[in-house]
Amino acid sequence: MEIKSAEFVMSNSDVSKCPSQPIPEYAFIGRSNVGKSSLINMLTSRKNLAKTSGKPGKTQLINHFIINKNWYLVDLPGYGYARVSKSSKKEFQKFITNYFEQRKQLVNAFVLVDIRHEPQTIDLNFMMYLGEQGIPFGIIFTKADKLKPEAIERNIEIYKAKLLETWESLPPYFITSSSKYVGKEELLNFIDDTNKEITQLQRP
Ligand code: GTP
Ligand code: MG
Repeated sequence: MEIKSAEFVMSNSDVSKCPSQPIPEYAFIGRSNVGKSSLINMLTSRKNLAKTSGKPGKTQLINHFIINKNWYLVDLPGYGYARVSKSSKKEFQKFITNYFEQRKQLVNAFVLVDIRHEPQTIDLNFMMYLGEQGIPFGIIFTKADKLKPEAIERNIEIYKAKLLETWESLPPYFITSSSKYVGKEELLNFIDDTNKEITQLQRP
């Protein structure tokens, strides 16, 4: 799929104020600093569309971007960021769960995990939560440029084995590097296919 246009629409912390156009939406979620915002820039080939930072906790709100004028990408804050107070952490979690539980346009979530690390409970729990909510999701392994191909393969196998302890089948997964533009086509094709399926379903 060719990205002809990518525009920032709005930021907010209230799901009821998110854009109302009934078009398919894809959200990126995962630990702070895993590379959610960088991935959005990579997918859209726009360097500064989503704000990134070397320090965790950069993205604080629900950010909507409209792509090719007919679908949304959503950049979300990271979970597992320890430097906020307990009360603001709770509030934060609430608006994120509200988003996942109420956003009708959401057709697929992508859970980002750093390919260098072993499966983390916080990510596995979030996938369970998405499953319980009936939200389809895929896994995006990030920062593949940091490992050699053998290590990538080994870590993917470890991850799959871990998932199969609780899931009957594996979700779609993607190996990516935002700095090296790895995985861009696979992800855009997946989104394109999903958009097409939805349009077909909507036909009378
Ligand atoms: P929060 O908004 O804080 O939740 O973080 P985020 O998940 O949006 O991460 P962000 O995209 O801001 O990236 C965090 C850091 O990781 C930045 O320093 C990026 O340059 C770096 N980074 C992101 N993706 C990659 C990648 O594919 N490879 C490498 N080497 N670094 C990356
Ligand atoms: Mg971010």
